[in-house]
Amino acid sequence: MKKLRSQDWFGRKGKDGFIYRAWMKNQGIPDFEFDKPIIGICNTWSELTPCNAHFRELAESVKRGISEAGGFPVEFPTMSLGETLMKPTTMLFRNLASMAVEESIRGNPMDGVVLMCGCDKTTPSLVMGACSVNLPSIVVSGGAMLTGKFRGKSIGTSDVWRYSDELKKGNITEEEFRMLEGAMCRSRGHCAVMGTASTMACMVEALGLSIPHNAAIPAADARRKVIAHLSGMRIVEMVKEDLKPSDILTKEAFENAIKINTAIGGSTNFVVHLIAIAGRIGVPLELLEFDDLCKDIPLITNLQPSGEYFMEDFFEAGGLQVVIKALKKHLHNDSLTVNGKTIGENCKNAESYNEAVISNTEKPFGSEIGLAVLTGNLCEDGAVIKPSAATSKLMQHKGKAVVFEDIEEYKHKIDDDTLEVDENSILVLKNVGPKGYPGMPEVGNMGLPKKLLDKGIQDMVRISDGRMSGTGFGTVVLHVSPEAAAGGALQLVQTGDWITLDVPARTLNVHLSDEELAERKRLLKQQTNENDRGYVGLYIRTVQQAHLGADLDFLVGGSGSEVVRDSH
Ligand code: FES
Repeated sequence: MKKLRSQDWFGRKGKDGFIYRAWMKNQGIPDFEFDKPIIGICNTWSELTPCNAHFRELAESVKRGISEAGGFPVEFPTMSLGETLMKPTTMLFRNLASMAVEESIRGNPMDGVVLMCGCDKTTPSLVMGACSVNLPSIVVSGGAMLTGKFRGKSIGTSDVWRYSDELKKGNITEEEFRMLEGAMCRSRGHCAVMGTASTMACMVEALGLSIPHNAAIPAADARRKVIAHLSGMRIVEMVKEDLKPSDILTKEAFENAIKINTAIGGSTNFVVHLIAIAGRIGVPLELLEFDDLCKDIPLITNLQPSGEYFMEDFFEAGGLQVVIKALKKHLHNDSLTVNGKTIGENCKNAESYNEAVISNTEKPFGSEIGLAVLTGNLCEDGAVIKPSAATSKLMQHKGKAVVFEDIEEYKHKIDDDTLEVDENSILVLKNVGPKGYPGMPEVGNMGLPKKLLDKGIQDMVRISDGRMSGTGFGTVVLHVSPEAAAGGALQLVQTGDWITLDVPARTLNVHLSDEELAERKRLLKQQTNENDRGYVGLYIRTVQQAHLGADLDFLVGGSGSEVVRDSH
């Protein structure tokens, strides 16, 4: 085994070694612990991140595993991003959290790190930060909540949108809506559907960054602690083997993850996060590649929001390893994973215990694929849509734009009876992109006008430069790039313009000539964003567009684990 990195601190003699060890000893640590591999546990526990609120307990299982395997665990906190509470949007802080993770790992005496991830952004931010350091790293996810139960019905996060429409239509009362809250979130864990958090948990397992079965075990199931324990044991071995993220995150691993994400009907947020992770580890990955890789991959899981079932059902049916095995002929089966085996070896014995939940490529659920990438004069650098969560008859649609300049205007006007809109209209929302909002919030699946809901209309084409919650659904074009605030054509669209969405042809066009677009651009008043101090100012100035992963430009890539200067 090569010399432990932590020995640069704890193995020193004289004053420096004294300082490094002595203050740690105030925690009651015996001398011999300092000779062991030091394993950081990067914990996103926070009571303000309810999905991760059980992480202190889970970290105890990780610690037991580390100690058992001969390592010394050191738990440290990092910025935690709670999707439901944090304003204006957690995506604004994903890159900030990744910076904190990166510097916490590099600056401290550790030889490997366990990343404790749960709520949506806590996974990509930790993985991005760890990739920029590239020390042996393993992900432990927190697991999903148990399926919600309300009046004999199973419910999950996707029902928030459904029931809020029912409330709007007067079909349920405020009191009933309130009762749903506790019924839906009845246990520890993250959202119980294939939303962004579950998608991210699947992503890390598909990439090979977690041990098998990490993605699907519910948070409340005792086996979640077993995963944590085993991961703690494994990271010590990984340090001895010097198995780093760069050994695992090859181009092939990213291709596998994209295909697996399609088969599970994963969140569209996967796209921006995966591109950002690839950027940190130095693997070239372009938005258009997603379309190419996805096109032959059918949806083989029947999970909300694309289907009917919940994460608990996914686990009972066999979890992600079943999906990986079913996609065998499409994948790079020799891609290495953190347990030292290939993804092909890991899934060898997987089988579906419920084909209504996890099927196979011969019997897919529905004909629509999980992700399509669009281009056209409205999105020159691309946009994405999730056909599996959309309405088939709207996949080719021409309609007149009803434009909202920002989310505030949308909220103000959407339920106004005088708004000229019908079911064939296309709702266009501007200035919700990375720079424009700023932070690219999940508002792309904007609710329909009340007067159309009253008529029984359930879906319309919607277009924006924002994102959509992984639990959302509908015929929603997202991540339009360049965004309106970065001078994209989206900024030039006006109410009444004709727009054509053609998903089979992968195009999105506004019916305006190049000359008309140029003239509108000339007349456009230059917007200035006044919110330009502190982190938000830095973000606005340096954030990249969605098709590049929305990372800050100066964070792309990595700096390794070496600390060149030493002030002691
Ligand atoms: Fe945390 Fe959905 S709100 S995962």
